[in-house]
Amino acid sequence: MKLVNFTKSLSQLWLGANLSQLKTKKEDHNKQYTGKKIPIGVTFALTFVCNFECSHCGADIDNKRANEDASTKIILDTLDEIKKLGGKRVSFTGGEPLVRKGIKEILEKASDNKFYISVVSNGWHVERHLKQLNKVDLLILSLDGTEEIHDFIRRKKGSYKKVIDSIKTAKKNGIPVLVNTTVMNTNADNLKELSKVLKDLEVFWTIDLFNDLDIVKDWQHGSNISRPTNKLLEEVVKIGKENPYLSNSFNYLNSVKERDLEKEVESSICFAGIGYCVISADGKMYPCFPAQNDSEFEGMDLKKMSFKKAFDEMPLYRKNCDTCDMICHKEMNSLYSFKPDAIFKGLKYLYKSKVANFFRLNKRV
Ligand SMILES: C[S@@+](CC[C@H](N)C(=O)[O-])C[C@H]1O[C@@H](n2cnc3c(N)ncnc32)[C@H](O)[C@@H]1O
Ligand code: SF4
Ligand code: SF4
Repeated sequence: MKLVNFTKSLSQLWLGANLSQLKTKKEDHNKQYTGKKIPIGVTFALTFVCNFECSHCGADIDNKRANEDASTKIILDTLDEIKKLGGKRVSFTGGEPLVRKGIKEILEKASDNKFYISVVSNGWHVERHLKQLNKVDLLILSLDGTEEIHDFIRRKKGSYKKVIDSIKTAKKNGIPVLVNTTVMNTNADNLKELSKVLKDLEVFWTIDLFNDLDIVKDWQHGSNISRPTNKLLEEVVKIGKENPYLSNSFNYLNSVKERDLEKEVESSICFAGIGYCVISADGKMYPCFPAQNDSEFEGMDLKKMSFKKAFDEMPLYRKNCDTCDMICHKEMNSLYSFKPDAIFKGLKYLYKSKVANFFRLNKRV
């Protein structure tokens, strides 16, 4: 049912589209989109707080800013508004969403509104949130390598063991789980080994390319983290393609492999601010994460205006599109554009997780 509703909303979006503005042309930057907008998918960075300090982290995290997190009331009201406007999918990330106050109420409200819910987590607190996580459609756990590499990147001893335990616990309790690995020079040649571990665990997997938008934090100086070379990426993509649980679309994998930072990539179609948007921890709406990281792009403050007003009036962001390869946005654009391999991968994933769930339902907590 969720899939049928999602397809209906997408069709409406296409029927009312301004095709020329869907293309990521620089001249459209800061202009209003004149076609139809529906916030089909909304990603919330729920908090500035995190219990980790990962060396590659590009998220807006700062434990001293905990009191700047948007209130739970704003988030709950926003979820109701998104529903009314035709929203179908909400995703919660951070910071670490499972350390945020009010996470229980937020997941309950998302579930009451029948959204397709995903939560992205470092896996440290899964065990104690099992009851609420039973409401999510997809738990995405970050795992960046085998034990030594993961604990090094995540700067937390024991984090590998914890995330492996969390994968097993989630599976045992019928919570659909997917592992996300951010690929960087530090772990690219470890992925063959990691792929074996994930195959044995029979867990869905996506790879995501490290994004360095001059967002390197103080603690990272000297960490020497960067994108892998194109040669290493080709290897990574080959390893990934040999793993039947890999859930990236070929479109994404090919674009990662062929990435040439020196050259501008051809502009493509993007639904940021048209069919989806992101909300920062302090409750500001942006079309996409690159826009949030751009100090010149002003977010629409949900403390001062309704979600509807913010979404209707938010201009397009078309500045860094030629170098944008964020997995969350790229895969979304492929799906929204009805790209056959994105649909195939999506359906294959849904089918497999439904079958797996059917057999595990009786074990739910
Ligand atoms: C920002 S984290 C927030 C959720 C949670 N704390 C976690 O680590 O899963 C969401 C995902 O983004 C990835 N990520 C963090 N920094 C990144 C960067 N600079 N480039 C690409 N992905 C990044 C993380 O590895 C994680 O899989
Ligand atoms: S990647 Fe996730 S767990 Fe790591 S510091 Fe960033 S927000 Fe925290
Ligand atoms: S998601 Fe990427 S392509 Fe789309 S508007 Fe943002 S920067 Fe441009």
